[in-house]
Amino acid sequence: MNIPQLETFRLILRPFTQGDVEPLHRILGIPGVLQYFPNSDTPGLDRVKRLVQRQINHWSEFNYGWWAVETKTGSGLIGWSGLQYLPETNETEIGYLFAKPYWGQGLASESASAGLDYGFTRLKIPEIVGIVHPENIASRRVLEKIGLKHQEQAEYFGMVCEKYLIKNPY
Ligand SMILES: CC(C)(COP(=O)(O)OP(=O)(O)OC[C@H]1O[C@@H](n2cnc3c(N)ncnc32)[C@H](O)[C@@H]1OP(=O)(O)O)[C@@H](O)C(=O)NCCC(=O)NCCS
Repeated sequence: MNIPQLETFRLILRPFTQGDVEPLHRILGIPGVLQYFPNSDTPGLDRVKRLVQRQINHWSEFNYGWWAVETKTGSGLIGWSGLQYLPETNETEIGYLFAKPYWGQGLASESASAGLDYGFTRLKIPEIVGIVHPENIASRRVLEKIGLKHQEQAEYFGMVCEKYLIKNPY
């Protein structure tokens, strides 16, 4: 499919390509970036290659997925942001991950707002969830800032998580 490209005030959200494998591998190797993920081991290049291919396939299957994120000032890849289908619960999740030098500047919130907007206005998804490790305070804050409300603790990806939710306001 033709994966759309979005622009926010500071960011470009574009389709992933296999050219992103090495930069993404470097980002996922930064200590702390995967701290709150179910598997926080730094992935090898092969696993990152499969991850990127899975994202491209995900777009074809569900009409949405993660975008590769760059700044408009020519950063190259700084992370991902976008929507993912959770087959076990039949839900759509907003997610994001950025290289550490880009934390704390509002970029996750900026990109995730664009992802929510895409899901609600273009795809008419009825509701979107945020699933986060209880101690991932920065991510919880992002979800709150973009309008999700805390629901409950629930098990996702084999771990206890906090579940947030926003209903389509349109
Ligand atoms: C989570 C993550 C995407 C946040 O990105 P970011 O661009 O720094 O997020 P933002 O700047 O938009 O917002 C972060 C908010 O959390 C707050 N915050 C960050 N760390 C905090 C802490 N330890 N305690 C309290 N608040 C904290 C920030 O102050 C900010 O809130 P504010 O705007 O009200 O001040 C980034 O830390 C990251 O990539 N982490 C690794 C991957 C990850 O965990 N992804 C989420 C999986 S669910």
